[in-house]
This record gives sequence, C-alpha cells and structure tokens, in this order.
Amino acid sequence: MTTDQRIRFLVKPAVFVLCLGPLAWIIGRALTIGLGANPIEYSNRYLGDWALRFILIALAVTPGREILGWSWLARLRRMLGLFAFAYVVLHVLSYVGLDQFFDWWAIGGEILKRQYITVGMIAVTLLIPLAITSTNGMVRRMGGRAWQRLHRLAYVIGMLGCLHFYMMVKSDTREPIIYASILACLLGYRLIAAGRRRLARNRRNTPQPA
Ligand code: HEM
Repeated sequence: MTTDQRIRFLVKPAVFVLCLGPLAWIIGRALTIGLGANPIEYSNRYLGDWALRFILIALAVTPGREILGWSWLARLRRMLGLFAFAYVVLHVLSYVGLDQFFDWWAIGGEILKRQYITVGMIAVTLLIPLAITSTNGMVRRMGGRAWQRLHRLAYVIGMLGCLHFYMMVKSDTREPIIYASILACLLGYRLIAAGRRRLARNRRNTPQPA
C-alpha cells in the first residue's frame, strides 16, 4: 500500500469516524441515561464546546504538520474544518430549534439583546464563506492566494468563538481562557513562521557583495 492509499483508505476514514464520536456520544447518552435536569442546555453547551474544539483542531493542522514534519496532516484539514462547521451548525440548530422553538422574532431579539449571541452570529456568518469555498473547484476558481487570504478568517472565527464563550460564562472564565490561550499559541506560531519566511525571501532577493 502506498502512502497515498494509506491516507485515503485508512487515515481519512478513521479520522472521519473519530470526528463523529462526540455526536454519537451525546445521541447515545440522550437515548440511555439522558442529558440531566436541563437536556436542552446540556446539548447546546456540549455542541458549542465541540464546535470550538474543532475550530482549534483544524487550525492546529498547519503548525502540527510543520513541527512534526507530517505533511499528510494537510490532507485532513478540509475534513476537520467541515466538521467544525457541522458542529457549529448543530449548536446553532439546538439553540434555534430546541431552545427557542424556531421563534424567529424572539431569536432576533436575543441577537440584539445578548451580546454573546451577537458575537456568535458574527462568527457563524464568517464561517459560511469558508465552508462554501472548501471545494477543490472553488480553490481553483479563486486562486491559491485569494483562497488562503479568505481562509485566514478562521483565526477571527476562533477569536469570536472564544469571546462568545467568555461573555457567556458569568464567573468561572477558566475554560474560555484556556481555549483563547491555545488559539493565541497557534496564531503566534503562524505569525512567527510567516515572518521567518519573509525574512528568508528578502535575504535571497538581496544581491550579495561580490
Ligand atoms: C462559531 C460559532 C460559535 C461557537 C464556536 C460557539 C461556541 C460556544 C461555546 C464554546 C459555548 C459554551 C459551552 C459551555 O458552556 O461549555 C457556547 C454557548 C452558547 N452558545 Fe454558542 N457558539 C457559536 C455560535 C453561536 C450562535 C450563532 C448562537 C445563537 C444564535 C449561539 C448560542 C449559544 C448559547 C445559547 C449558548 C449557551 C448559553 C447558556 O447555556 O447559558 N452560539 N457556544
């Protein structure tokens, strides 16, 4: 089996199944022991947690690939990003459907009244163009540079996700701060790596004394 076949037929399906794990876990729990005294709040928060985790996991692919030298990790990035989108959609659906019973008037009011929901909505809105442009055809149509520039929005979405969580919690801010710190490390790594690349390019382009 070639490396390409191993990734396509073993690694990718295994990661796909792993990514479905959190969803399978909550469905299993709901059908067996239940989701506690407030199942709607439980499922909404659980799905929100996994949405943010998947955003961070997708953002960790490039640093992970570069630090570990595992170039094949790049082939999982799109799947991980789309899982992040799927968990965000489920999180929002659980709020819109289970919490608000599709009462669009009330939801509109909440978006205006609760700032953490406003921030969440901005994050979801920014996530949509990333999901739409995730296909190979869209990468080709946009061109690599423009596509990369657009997909840097993922960091902004991560920041908004952390802010949304931070604004939502009333007292114990440890968890959102941990997520925000992980995001800061990932962003810091990308900025340093980009700075190094620019420096190396400038050195190559500077004429050397004879
Ligand atoms: C990228 C987008 C989003 C991410 C990453 C995200 C993530 C999260 C996280 C991590 C939590 C906290 C979970 C916990 O307590 O452990 C949360 C809570 C929540 N989110 Fe989001 N969220 C997003 C968008 C939205 C949107 C658009 C809405 C509503 C329209 C929303 C509604 C809520 C609500 C209602 C809660 C729970 C509030 C409570 O139980 O008091 N989220 N979200």
